[in-house]
Amino acid sequence: MNSDVETILFDEQQIAGRVSELGALLTNDYKGKKLLCIGILNGSAVFMSDLVRKIDLPLRMEFMAASSYGSGSVSSGEVKITRDISFDISGYDVLIIEDIIDTGFTLSYLKKMLLERGPASVKICTIFDKPSRRRAQITPDYTGFIVPDEFIVGYGLDYDNRYRNLPYIGVLKPEIYK
Ligand code: IMP
Ligand code: MG
Repeated sequence: MNSDVETILFDEQQIAGRVSELGALLTNDYKGKKLLCIGILNGSAVFMSDLVRKIDLPLRMEFMAASSYGSGSVSSGEVKITRDISFDISGYDVLIIEDIIDTGFTLSYLKKMLLERGPASVKICTIFDKPSRRRAQITPDYTGFIVPDEFIVGYGLDYDNRYRNLPYIGVLKPEIYK
C-alpha cells in the first residue's frame, strides 16, 4: 500500500467485479441504441478504459474535460469546458462517464449543455458517488460505489495530479493535503 494512503476502501478485485456488473447492465440497457460514451478527463480515464471493455455492444468513445472556476478547493458552481467534442451528437444515446460526483456542479452543467445539442438521451455513469456532499440537483443513472465524505485517491482519482495509477481506492492521509 502507498504510504500516503490511510485505508483501502475498495481493492482491485472489488472494483473489477463492480465494473463488470455495470458493463453487463449497460450492455442490456443500450442494446439497439446508438451509444456514445463520453469520458470526463482526466479522472475517468482508468474507469472508462475498463468499463468499455465490459460493454458488449458497438459504441463510440470520446473525451471532454471541464474545470471548476473559483479558488482553492471550494467549488463555486461555475464550470468551464476545457476540451470539447467536435462532432454532431444529435441522435446519439450519450453516456457520460465520470470518476466521482461530489457537489454535482460539474455534471449538472455538462448534462444540461449536452442536452441542448439534441442527442437522443443523456445519462450518467459514475464509478464513485459522494451523495452527502451534493449541492446541485443531479443523480447518476449508474453508480459503482457510494463513498463516505473523505478524500479518496486511486483508480484514476488524484490529489494534485498524483495517485491516479493506484489500482485500488484509498483514503488519503489528511496530513498530505493539510
Ligand atoms: P463536483 O461534483 O463538481 O464537485 O466535482 C467532481 C470532481 O471533483 C471529480 O471529477 C473529481 O475530479 C473531484 N473530486 C471530488 N471528490 C474527490 C475525491 O475524493 N478524490 C479525488 N477527486 C475528487
Ligand atoms: Mg474529475
